[in-house]
Amino acid sequence: MRASADRCGFRATRHGAIVAPVSEPSITANNDAPRRAPAALARDALGLGLRIAHYGYLFEHWPAVGYFEVISENFMGPALPPRQRLDAVRARYPVVLHGVGLNLLGPDPLDEAYLDALCRLADHVDAPFVTDHLCWTGARGLSHHDLLPAPYVPELVELAAERAAHVQRRLGRPFGLENLSSYVEFRRSTMTEWEFYTSVVRTAGCSFMLDVNNIYVSSQNHGFDPLDYLRAIDFSRVLQVHIAGHTREPDGTLVDTHDHPVVDAVWALYAAAWRMGGPFPTLLEWDERIPPMPDALAELAKARAVRP
Ligand SMILES: [Fe+2]
Repeated sequence: MRASADRCGFRATRHGAIVAPVSEPSITANNDAPRRAPAALARDALGLGLRIAHYGYLFEHWPAVGYFEVISENFMGPALPPRQRLDAVRARYPVVLHGVGLNLLGPDPLDEAYLDALCRLADHVDAPFVTDHLCWTGARGLSHHDLLPAPYVPELVELAAERAAHVQRRLGRPFGLENLSSYVEFRRSTMTEWEFYTSVVRTAGCSFMLDVNNIYVSSQNHGFDPLDYLRAIDFSRVLQVHIAGHTREPDGTLVDTHDHPVVDAVWALYAAAWRMGGPFPTLLEWDERIPPMPDALAELAKARAVRP
């Protein structure tokens, strides 16, 4: 049911970042590199999504990065090479987990075997926190391999909050929910997206994994003010903020493709979020047309420059 890759270690997903296990460079030992970074993140840390495309550069140069975020499902299986690479990264940087397969709003009960594996992985890397999405990803044991929206209604607040609280209890560490980029609206919805999102987090006693690019994409697609969204957020509950690039389709729809640099409007929204509730850890996602690692790190460094 889950959008995981526990058969071979990797799976393509628009939000999941890691693609096929193509020829991966071997790990090059660098005995001068610092060892075993502390798990706790600086509140203003800058992090990057761990991507295979960067392994060659990363394992040779061990560049200065505040932390890495990994797609949980890519490292939950028994395959040894992914775990060895994760261990090499974890030896030098804090690692946080970001899932795409929890299926929080799906019609099936939460998969406890999946949660067992997620707990083991979180313990293994001593993750400061774990995140997934406020969405559903499958039904009746089948995965759609995408992050699907649901109506914003009180009944689903209850369901999502109950499940998110359960996940956080199981993990024994902070658990954050990410807001989706959105392309459809439901006639059944009786709440705004931000009312729904904040109600789930507050009721569950969990945290926000706030994606400001997703807020911007959804605001343009649905015609709301992204600042209204930010004003609803309790920033004391924000574990991390995502930034990313997106694509504008010919009909004007914005699509959360993670294949471009961050646009100025999203940087402006990020700066507004920082004014309202910074500092918070900031993570750059780049999943398609991935540039060389130094270029991705240069894009990430812009976050510090645009902060007020
Ligand atoms: Fe995100």
